[in-house]
Amino acid sequence: MRVGVLTGGGDCPGLNAVIRGIVRKGVQEYGYDFVGFRDGWRGPLDGDVTRLDIPAVRGILPRGGTILGSSRTNPFQHEGGITRIKENLAKQEVEALVVIGGEDTLGVAARLSDDYGVPCVGVPKTIDNDLSATDYTFGFDTAVGIATEAIDRLHTTAESHMRVLVVEVMGRHTGWIALHSGLAGGANVILIPEQRFDVDQVCAWVTSRFKASYAPIVVVAEGAVPKDGDMVLKDETLDSYGHVRLSGVGEWLAKEIERRTGKEARTTVLGHVQRGGTPSAFDRWLATRFGLHAVDCVRDGDFGTMVALRGTHIVRVPIAEATARLKTVDPALYEEVEVFFG
Ligand code: F6P
Repeated sequence: MRVGVLTGGGDCPGLNAVIRGIVRKGVQEYGYDFVGFRDGWRGPLDGDVTRLDIPAVRGILPRGGTILGSSRTNPFQHEGGITRIKENLAKQEVEALVVIGGEDTLGVAARLSDDYGVPCVGVPKTIDNDLSATDYTFGFDTAVGIATEAIDRLHTTAESHMRVLVVEVMGRHTGWIALHSGLAGGANVILIPEQRFDVDQVCAWVTSRFKASYAPIVVVAEGAVPKDGDMVLKDETLDSYGHVRLSGVGEWLAKEIERRTGKEARTTVLGHVQRGGTPSAFDRWLATRFGLHAVDCVRDGDFGTMVALRGTHIVRVPIAEATARLKTVDPALYEEVEVFFG
């Protein structure tokens, strides 16, 4: 049997570990052969393939990014896209497709599987950890580790100058990275998209931190928004997913803190550094296990299914369950960390 593999959406540490897990088990245990589709859904749409065998996956476990390339191509937005995909899969004699991606990439897999009879198995990926139906996605642990190290480093520079340091982390819709790295890095304020923040309250926490003779670190998720709605962001555009994309909350907040408290403030936007480089040991472990279980789904003919982590077990859920809604930070969890604010 020939199996196709693709990686779509933003890259994420651990993608190569999944690919390796799939290919190693598929070849060694089931005698499958594989074909890699390049750049997410663009590959099957254009019939753009690459060799994917044991030598191709040798040495890729610790490598960031994806050897298959990635894109945000959505075949449903292309005239005749689904027909082209079906034709290209038939041409390559591909009988099953393993799709590694986030909300958008998996959303396409769910529709193709459920409505168009394209046999897909999903693997959840995102540094944001906001996919429902799985306790964790791979890439998240690495991103949190990178953000935590940055916060540790920013503490010493903040204290040397007695400045406020605002650290903007990724998370357009959810605050998982902010919450975990903020807690791990001993931040004095953590702001997440799920809870509108009050700038005066942030300033009160900042001031109380200075009173205790420490320089405050404010961790803000890129999608966090203030309560009073007085924030004028630098730009508001649609990204390539078609999502509204705001930018500049970290910069804006540092300026507001300076204006309202009279304390000097600086911003560090961590950006794509959170997605780059080698995956953590946890992400290699999780991504590899996802790969091994995904190929088992193929063997069982269990299509329209996604592998997911529940506790320490890998389970199977309908892909549509993961893409139907985002997994947001529970207010109780956020309240739990507020004891450290100020
Ligand atoms: O979804 C993952 C993510 O890293 C988000 O946290 C972030 O907002 C977005 O991707 C950035 O996308 P791009 O790489 O297109 O700038």
